Amino acid sequence: MISLITNIKELLQVRNEGFIKVSGLEMKTLPTIKNAFLLMEDDLISDYGEMQNLPKLKPDVIIDAQGKIVLPAWCDSHTHIVYAGNREDEFVDRINGLSYEEIANKGGGILNSAKKLQKASEEELYIQASNRIEEVMAMGTAALEIKSGYGLTVEAELKMLRVIKKLSRAYPVVIKATFLGAHAFPQEFKEDKEAYIDLICNEMIPKVANEKLAEFVDVFCETGYFNVSQTNRILKKAKQFGLVPKIHVNQFTSIGGVQIGVNNLALSVDHLEILTDKDLEGLKNSNTMPVALPACSYFLTIPYTPAREIIDAGLPLALASDFNPGSSPSGNMNFVVSTACIKMRMTPEESINAATINGAYAMNISSSHGSITRGKKANLIITKQLPSYSYIPYAFGSNLIDTVIVNGKII
Ligand code: NIG
Ligand code: FE
Repeated sequence: MISLITNIKELLQVRNEGFIKVSGLEMKTLPTIKNAFLLMEDDLISDYGEMQNLPKLKPDVIIDAQGKIVLPAWCDSHTHIVYAGNREDEFVDRINGLSYEEIANKGGGILNSAKKLQKASEEELYIQASNRIEEVMAMGTAALEIKSGYGLTVEAELKMLRVIKKLSRAYPVVIKATFLGAHAFPQEFKEDKEAYIDLICNEMIPKVANEKLAEFVDVFCETGYFNVSQTNRILKKAKQFGLVPKIHVNQFTSIGGVQIGVNNLALSVDHLEILTDKDLEGLKNSNTMPVALPACSYFLTIPYTPAREIIDAGLPLALASDFNPGSSPSGNMNFVVSTACIKMRMTPEESINAATINGAYAMNISSSHGSITRGKKANLIITKQLPSYSYIPYAFGSNLIDTVIVNGKII
């Protein structure tokens, strides 16, 4: 099927083939074509250019985008979308003065979600997660990563990952699975933490790999959670089974997790709300993508990732939602992009680069997603009529999306 979008006010993020991420000063540039057309053949972008160069053809579908902006759909490289129930009671506890840490220490937090998830059936989990997937698709996300990590037993972790696999088969969006057995220590291992690391390394990782349930491995490397040597051990073991690291580091403290990630060739290191010069140095000359999660900073009232320092050091940066019940109960990438501009002083160009091509890189799909490039997936956002693309992060509370296209089809 051939579909054509005509009269596009501005087509954003137009890149040549082979472009897989954008770093440093280059992030300020967002290549565009004004008054453009875009042609899709089945699920792929096949051509684009200025309207005056529109070739003669007979498309099956024509979409008139007069006054509208077209950009690649969001690539959300960090979510925990499969979870059971919510944690609005903890949200109220925080309003009343408890910290995220104090809530976790009294059995709330990740362990609270684990308790709920262990009791939920695969079907229940699937239904809850599919509602969230449909919600984020309507908000312009067409590729996302989903982590396990609310199971924390062999059985429940596998259950979560099976739900992720089912979702990836049912929906047209790309869904990448990450094994996050090392998200928190279950209560019964609090006195013998090494025994839980043994369980992860000797049982969970081999099973996850044998059933091909995940492509990536994650560890919450943080004070009070998994220390650097435990993280290192898990990443090394996972590597033997072909799992690539994408890890939670520096959310509250800098304990050396960034360097462990880089040493283990992590595809991404995520959070980075607390970043030392040493951490920044460690990221230089690596292929690891730093990922910021501003909706988490907003929701928990913790520092924002110092985007300016990261980008001004010549590094790339991706933005993701961290959609989860405890620290970011939203998968709205439009809000993420706005918040990055408003609170992290990223320019609209940097922010859009971070949520498209760099997000795709952080899922290892940037050769097929994240930009307007011939041969890439036709995953697009068509906005409502807008004055300019800076209006997208500016009007942070408005729904500016008119149409979302996934694999060449309107959803
Ligand atoms: O990325 N920090 C660790 N994991 C999640 C939050 C988990 C939770 O509170 O349920 C995050 O913020
Ligand atoms: Fe997270």
